[in-house]
Amino acid sequence: MPKAFSYEGVFSKGSQDTPIRVVQHAKYDFAVAYPAPETLPLDGLTEALKIALDKNGDEIARNMAYYPQVAGLPELREFVCEKLWQDRQFKVKPDQVMMTSGSSEANSLVIQAITNPGDVVITEEFVYAGTLAQLRKFGAVIVGTPLDADGIIPAALEDLIKKLTKEGRKPKYLYTIPEHQNPTGSTIPEARRREILDICHKYGMPILEDDCYVDLRFEGKVQPAFRTLDDSGIVIHVASFSKIIAPGLRLGYFTAPDDVLRRAMSFRSGGGPSQFTMYAVDSYMRLNMDKHKSNFKPMLKSKRDAMVSTLERYFSGTGATWSKPQGGCYVWLTMPKGTDLTKVQQACFDDGVGYIAGSSFAPNNNGDHCARLCFAFESPEKNREGVALLAKLFEKHGVPAMKKSGATKSAARS
Ligand SMILES: Cc1ncc(COP(=O)(O)O)c(C=O)c1O
Repeated sequence: MPKAFSYEGVFSKGSQDTPIRVVQHAKYDFAVAYPAPETLPLDGLTEALKIALDKNGDEIARNMAYYPQVAGLPELREFVCEKLWQDRQFKVKPDQVMMTSGSSEANSLVIQAITNPGDVVITEEFVYAGTLAQLRKFGAVIVGTPLDADGIIPAALEDLIKKLTKEGRKPKYLYTIPEHQNPTGSTIPEARRREILDICHKYGMPILEDDCYVDLRFEGKVQPAFRTLDDSGIVIHVASFSKIIAPGLRLGYFTAPDDVLRRAMSFRSGGGPSQFTMYAVDSYMRLNMDKHKSNFKPMLKSKRDAMVSTLERYFSGTGATWSKPQGGCYVWLTMPKGTDLTKVQQACFDDGVGYIAGSSFAPNNNGDHCARLCFAFESPEKNREGVALLAKLFEKHGVPAMKKSGATKSAARS
């Protein structure tokens, strides 16, 4: 037998030794980034695929025998154009839409097309860890811009751009999640979006708009996308079927000016997303989109209410604050400065409550006192039980604000 072959000395410089993680779930799982499996319309998807096959079986068989079109199924790209017009009120043509394996791939292709190692990229002060990882992978230097309850603060963004430019580090583009942001849950109001657009035009900075949560609004008024407010090409718009149907489909898309689309395409390998999935989603969405949305929205709202009311009960008087998002999946918990929720994350997980500390989302390394709590996955009852337990665990594991306030005792008495 030849001895085991060693790849040391063979690996590329860019490859990283990345553990193959198996996601562990705590008893109360507020760490995940998706809605509950019971909201997944499996029957609807299979039925819709059958309807499509009954109607167009020969054509589908022929297309499945070919390799898929690299930008994705033309019918689905047409549907995406209709959806963008209906939900976001901007018009694009199917050949300006590229289907991707989730919005992760859309972000990744665009990031590769517009980022050189060393480029400075501005993101929200706390931002989706998956995109942070991708930006880092392609060598971006990430700087977070300050947020308040309404997301990016335009004046602070402009100050940051001026400061970075003065330091010889002119930022290249802005990545933002303007609707039900991950992780803070904030939504940028229209007036602010217009100001941000003006700033980005002034400094020649494109906006990579990650709009993957817009379908999950259960309250209040949807705000126009950056892309809706601006037709100049400065906005690249990314979205997904992960949050409205299921992440397991691995289906997202983006639309961008033709040259950006073609450059992004150059990083595509493997021929695009699964044809089978695209047929199922195309048929399902055409038949059921509105009904599906009206089914899951009330459920999502009751989950948000359960989490927020229990935070009020157990965390009032501790100096903590939390967001009350009008959609999406996340409540953002901010404990007094100096609290270290990164340190106690594993201990809380081991004792039954999963959350992700703010440090995972913080390009400026300032998130230890914050945590993202996903309200969308567990039932309302489990949201209540889990938040009550979290308060007790913070006290048990020595979070000073909980110890001092006695909040868990007074909540238990009330
Ligand atoms: C802001 C944001 N963008 C992109 C993604 C990736 O989603 P997917 O690739 O499943 O569309 C996520 C997932 O949580 C997200 O929160």
